[in-house]
Parts: sequence; structure tokens; C-alpha cells
Amino acid sequence: EKGPYPHYMLKEIDEQPFAIRKLITKYQNDIGEIAIDEDIREAMKETDRIYIIACGTSYHAGLVGKQLFERITNVPVEVHIASEFLYNRPLLSSNPIFIFISQSGETADSRGVLVEIKKSGFRALALTNVPGSTLSRESDYTLNTYAGPEIAVASTKAYTAQIAVLAILASDCARNRGIQLNFDLFLELGLAANAMEILINKKEKIEEIVWKYLSVSRNCFFIGRSVDYYVGLEGALKLKEISYIQAEGFAGGELKHGTIALIEDGTPVIALLTQPQVKGNIRSNVQEVMARGANVCLISMEGIEDKNDQLVIPYIHEYLTPLVSIIPLQLIAYYAALYRGCDVDKPRNLAKSVTVE
Ligand code: M6R
Repeated sequence: EKGPYPHYMLKEIDEQPFAIRKLITKYQNDIGEIAIDEDIREAMKETDRIYIIACGTSYHAGLVGKQLFERITNVPVEVHIASEFLYNRPLLSSNPIFIFISQSGETADSRGVLVEIKKSGFRALALTNVPGSTLSRESDYTLNTYAGPEIAVASTKAYTAQIAVLAILASDCARNRGIQLNFDLFLELGLAANAMEILINKKEKIEEIVWKYLSVSRNCFFIGRSVDYYVGLEGALKLKEISYIQAEGFAGGELKHGTIALIEDGTPVIALLTQPQVKGNIRSNVQEVMARGANVCLISMEGIEDKNDQLVIPYIHEYLTPLVSIIPLQLIAYYAALYRGCDVDKPRNLAKSVTVE
């Protein structure tokens, strides 16, 4: 039930710190180590390449997961949009494992790929929020995201839970491959949950941002580099799906290759900056679009912030920044939809679970 909340989406955004803390209790054993089924562990240890298959928001979580896996484990990862996979079937490695990421576990496009790869005898791991769902039943292994029922069509807590489980799986995989990690994952996840809470308590600030940047515009651009680019894609999807503002996320470096032509006086640009190594380049992208009249809202992270940035998110481990940087973007989408009088929880033309291909 919604309880005191006007919309499920707002409730589900607020539940995210709790969902991360719950995952910590579910995936940590009594002696503080990762608890994952031995057969999943074995499969992840043996594989020479991971193929992540997903749609929409779950695909965006997969992009974050790829970076996490490749940074932590050295195992190559490909991420594919489920509906495209069978047309552009990639050349597979000799010992692949498929990870299907799906909140509902019922998405027909993803299931279509699962059915095909099972015919060839490949192994599949389902990462879903619904135990007993089709994808989890038909896969060899399942990991639960434990986010609780997600009712709003716009996916929020499932996304952050998916990323957290991917971080846990990647860390476990690294350990089983003899790679020493130089951070305490559960500690960092706990800190990320605290940081999420801090941002969730800044709703008034986000409302102001929406008022200032999105009250009259029909379009909006999200820019970022490295993992911030992937979070920008998700921010754009959230905004377009519930507020109907045409939104596009793209890599900061791509601006000069075309998109900058669309920037004119007053165009809203939401820029993300959580990775120290891209600081200089993103700040120059911001200058470039401002010089063409863009109305820039820069969301940065403590430690690399500037006093003129519009919002500064608390410092968190560089691998886990999406868990926190997505919160203001989810809230921006929520308030933009609210101000426009849109049906926040049930946007037009969309279903929560897409069971047709
Ligand atoms: O249940 P799934 O995670 O498989 O759903 C995939 C997409 O349909 C879903 O993430 C969709 O993009 C959301 N409405 C986005 O908020």
C-alpha cells in the first residue's frame, strides 16, 4: 500500500536505502563474508565471458554492472538489449554465462533470448525481483534483488538493487579468482545507503531544480562520462517515460559530434560528475553548452565539486556512485511529471511488465 505517499513512485524512491540495507543482510554471512550459492560461484569462476541481457532500466543497470565486473574481476562483459540480441547474435566465447536482469522476470524480449540460448545448452543466471517468475524458473541459477514489490511503472528501487547485487556478485567472483579487493564492499554499500538517504531528504532542493530548469522546456539533455554516462541514460529514460519531456542521455565527448547542434538559448542540460578522472572534460563540456545558451544543472560529488555546482552528492566509493547519483534524477523525473499533471505511476502507453515481443 501507498500509506502516506501520494504515489507509489515516491514511496519506492524513498525505500531505496532500506532496500540496500536489506541486501546487505541477505548476502552477508555471520562472519561478514559474501553468501552466494556454490553453484553460482562455480559458474562465475569458470566463465570466460559474461553476456548481460536486459531491457530498459534493467539494461542500464547492466551497463553499470559491466563496468563493475571489468574493473573488479577482469572478466570481459558484453551487455545486450534483449530485443536486438537475436538479430545481432554476437560471436560467443568458449565458456559463456548469460545474466538476465529483469525486475519482473516476465519480460518477453528477455525470455525470447533465454529460450534460444538454452537450446544451445548455455547457462543462464536470472537476476530478478520476483522469485518464482518465468525468467528465474527457466534459468539455471537465480539471484534475488529483494527490493519488494515495485508498483510504479517507472523502475526505481529495482535499478539500485540490481546494481548492488551486481556489485556483490562481481566482488564474490573476484575473490574466487584470487583477486584481492582493496575495499570493504558491505561497508561501502552501507555508506551508499546513508548517502541515498541524505539526498532523499533534499526533495525541496530537487523541486527547486525542476522549477528552474524544466518548468517550460519540451526537451532536456543529460551528459556524463564513464559511469555517469550510463546513469544519464537512465535519468533520461525516467524523465521521458513519466513527464513526456523529450530527453536524451549521451556521453559528454559526443557533444561535438552532433548533439551540440541542438543546444539553444534555455535548453536544459543536466550534467553528472562523480568520477575524478573525467572532471576536466565534463567541466569543459559544461562551458561549451553554456556558451551556446544552455541552462546547465551540474550535479557533482563531494571532493570534486565546485562552489557553483547546483547539487553536490555525498562522497561514496567510485564503484558505487550510480546508487546515489540516480536519486536526484529519479526525483527530477517525479517532480517534472507531477508539475505537468501527468499520471506518475501509470504513464500513458506503458505497462509495468512487457510480456509481448
Ligand atoms: O521487468 P524488467 O526489468 O525486465 O523490465 C524492463 C523494462 O521494461 C523496464 O525497465 C522499463 O524500461 C521501465 N518502465 C523503466 O522505468
